[in-house]
Amino acid sequence: MKRVVSAVSVLFAVLLLTAGAQAEQAGEAIFNKKCLMCHVVKGKGGAIGPELTRIASKMKDKDLREKIENPKKSNGSSTMPGFKTLPKADMDALIGYMKTLK
Ligand code: HEC
Repeated sequence: MKRVVSAVSVLFAVLLLTAGAQAEQAGEAIFNKKCLMCHVVKGKGGAIGPELTRIASKMKDKDLREKIENPKKSNGSSTMPGFKTLPKADMDALIGYMKTLK
């Protein structure tokens, strides 16, 4: 019985890890599609916006979210478009990915 329990918990742990990795990958895909043309991350991307490779060390979750939704709030002359219409799940995945950049 003990064996079965530990096998089940191992399986569960693997599933959780996989789900986490998938969310991160989804976030990266969204970033690559919507942000990379302006921002440089890890040597890839455009040069219009600042480099974001270490952004999570610089900005808190909440500030990141606010910046992405309404860039003009923190910088009135920002040329970055707002992403208020991004579905919540996509925004969460995107923030999750950005938190890995530090
Ligand atoms: C059209 C080009 C463009 C696109 C697309 C764009 N950005 Fe930006 N972004 C900028 C510019 C320019 C700035 C610098 C001015 C400012 O602070 O708003 C900036 C600033 C930022 C900052 C603040 C950086 C700092 O060091 O203070 C973050 C975070 C950010 N962008 C995230 C994103 C994310 C995430 C996306 C995709 C959802 C995105 N940006 C899409 C141009 C862009």
